[in-house]
Amino acid sequence: QPSSPAVVKLGEHLGARIDGVRLGGDLDPSTVDLIYRALLEHKVIFFRDQHQLTDDGQQAFAKLIGTPTIAHPTVTSRGAVILPVDSDYQSANTWHSDVTFVDRIPKASILRAVELPPYGGDTIWASGVAAYAALPAPLKALAESLRAVHSNVYDYATRAVDEGLAPNYQDYRAEFESTVYETEHPVVRIHPETGERTLLLGHFVRRFVDLPTSASLALFRLLQGYAVDEDRTVRWSWRPGDVAIWDNRATQHRAVADYGGQHRRLHRITLAGDVPIGVDG
Ligand code: SIN
Repeated sequence: QPSSPAVVKLGEHLGARIDGVRLGGDLDPSTVDLIYRALLEHKVIFFRDQHQLTDDGQQAFAKLIGTPTIAHPTVTSRGAVILPVDSDYQSANTWHSDVTFVDRIPKASILRAVELPPYGGDTIWASGVAAYAALPAPLKALAESLRAVHSNVYDYATRAVDEGLAPNYQDYRAEFESTVYETEHPVVRIHPETGERTLLLGHFVRRFVDLPTSASLALFRLLQGYAVDEDRTVRWSWRPGDVAIWDNRATQHRAVADYGGQHRRLHRITLAGDVPIGVDG
């Protein structure tokens, strides 16, 4: 390793940069432990200058902190374990946690910059734990009583303009929706490792169980407003060689689509997770 690892906090509620680590499959157990503990504490962690990392190296590293899982249950033509997040067909620019429409939501994602536009294309993360904590007591109780239906066929109306910029978006969407998932999850999740309460929402939410569409929409806007409040976010400006890892059980994220028609590509690996447990078990 280049030097001893240092964890530099980047925001009050989430985010830390880890310096002095060279990611790969050969990391020693104490460094792996430090990285994993930093991930749980800071919820999203960043590494600069990991130019040595290839797709294989990213996978080898991923195996040290979890079990790489199928990147996406339907989008398999673009890669089984490594999912290219590519502006050629998507811009990932609405708030979400990854793949929440399945039973076992991935516990974490590892994203590596592959090709970056000359400007723009930052990614922003928000803490679901800080969002839950910020809810007034009556809204905490309401959120705890709710279950949401998450689906891969969700309402793209709000993203149509930006997504329309991606030349191959329609093909991607057809593949994305080729099998329809609808899965119920509690809105307040107990984090299986930290015990923290966190809001489980994001753009895959279609509606709340036992509520009509109009009430679902109003409630979603209210609760999601807490979940993605800028006061509880951290923003990352990508450089070549950068890697970000987030706890997908405690955060939402979105990319900022402010790079026009320029190319942006990152490679993502998701790690297998658990079925979310709510406050009542
Ligand atoms: C993602 O949503 O997994 C990717 C985020 C990004 O492209 O910055």
